[in-house]
Amino acid sequence: MIFQKNQLAEPRFQQNLRKTNLFYLQDVSVTYGQVEALKNVQLSIESGEIIFITGASGAGKTTLLKILSGEQVVTCGSVKRPSPKVAFTSHVFQDLRLLSRKTCLENLMTAYDPNIYESKKNFMQDLDELCKILGVDDRLHLNVMDANGGLKQKVAIIRALLTKPDVFIADEPTSSLDVANARRFFDILNLYNVKRGLTVVWASHNKELVQNFTGRIVHLENGKLIYAGHACFI
Ligand SMILES: Nc1ncnc2c1ncn2[C@@H]1O[C@H](COP(=O)(O)OP(=O)(O)O)[C@@H](O)[C@H]1O
Ligand SMILES: [Mg+2]
Repeated sequence: MIFQKNQLAEPRFQQNLRKTNLFYLQDVSVTYGQVEALKNVQLSIESGEIIFITGASGAGKTTLLKILSGEQVVTCGSVKRPSPKVAFTSHVFQDLRLLSRKTCLENLMTAYDPNIYESKKNFMQDLDELCKILGVDDRLHLNVMDANGGLKQKVAIIRALLTKPDVFIADEPTSSLDVANARRFFDILNLYNVKRGLTVVWASHNKELVQNFTGRIVHLENGKLIYAGHACFI
């Protein structure tokens, strides 16, 4: 894949943050009523890592991501997260959180921040480039409520990337995409990672898909972290 500009891969701060500890979960448990969603999870995430959180449905992936995002309080244990002034985090949540009465383009425009782009022209160039790579440039006029699942997912992904994050957290971001599109998305993340140290945390129940990509695997089973490493044992 060829990116025309370096600017596209530029996060906000992380070029100065290589190899620092960003997240640290110590003995974290989360209980919803009678359900123990996470049990004594220990996890450290360094800047510049690509991590796949894997596990079957109900294993605790979304709960873990919500803890990293600060959306979920823990029942026991402690959590260290980076301040947004040190590492800006963008999310793609499972429910996507798009503005359904707005067009796809209007949703993408909400990512524009004059403080992080030299000009609106630069922002639009990045937007055009990402939309072309993910093949949505001809459908941006559609209202989100009229878009199919794949288009919505791509809009949510592009919107998150346009904020130039240092940390990208995504919950099943490619569940409505085919393998070729998932690969294109991974290639973008990988390029951002290599060029500028973007940290990626990607949750997926699809271990066959994840096995095609490069990164550390953190595998959950019934709320327990049972494996963390690069070798693919699952
Ligand atoms: N808000 C909630 N209230 C009650 N139970 C929940 C809630 N959220 C998740 N759970 C339960 O916690 C467990 C882990 O869920 P989740 O983190 O969504 O797993 P995953 O993302 O791997 O499918 C499941 O048994 C799920 O039913
Ligand atoms: Mg989930």
